[in-house]
Amino acid sequence: MDMNREKAVELFKEFNTSASLYNHALAVEAVMRHAAEERGYDPDFWGVVGLLHDIDYEKYPDEHCLKAAEILRERKWSEDIIHAVVSHGWGICSDVQPVHEMEKVLYAIDELTGLITATVLVRPSKSIMDLKVKSVKKKWKDKRFSAGVDRSIIEKGAALLHLETGELIAMTIAGMQKAAPELGLAGE
Ligand SMILES: [Fe+2]
Ligand SMILES: [Fe+2]
Repeated sequence: MDMNREKAVELFKEFNTSASLYNHALAVEAVMRHAAEERGYDPDFWGVVGLLHDIDYEKYPDEHCLKAAEILRERKWSEDIIHAVVSHGWGICSDVQPVHEMEKVLYAIDELTGLITATVLVRPSKSIMDLKVKSVKKKWKDKRFSAGVDRSIIEKGAALLHLETGELIAMTIAGMQKAAPELGLAGE
């Protein structure tokens, strides 16, 4: 099987109907592609991992990560993709640690894309194009804002990558900017 984007999207849609979950998959994909480009890796490969990481979330929220491995293995996706997908739930729904740089990036940016999306959507412009790191940091500090986003996981991810939180936020914004229209974050 070709590990290409089209097949990943098809598989994602087979298991998920929620528009917001798909939007999340696209946001993570965009950041993964951007990070791969920056770091000299294959953006197509990293992008597919981003697309597929929450494949099981809608149908099996209580078996998140475990079911994903099952589904992907059954569909003959490669073991490095499976390892990466499972490791994004390290300490949450799996005990598989992110090892590869790709896995560390996925782990670090997964929840952060949600905080950034929420930050953009309360801006008058509804645009990510001129979003500043400091605006995200302000929302980061407001514990009631996007309370579901676990800041400590993002911090742990940044540490794995030896990045300051600000640097990680900047990279994540830059990746999401590249897909702003698809993500509905290009402004009104
Ligand atoms: Fe997840
Ligand atoms: Fe996710």
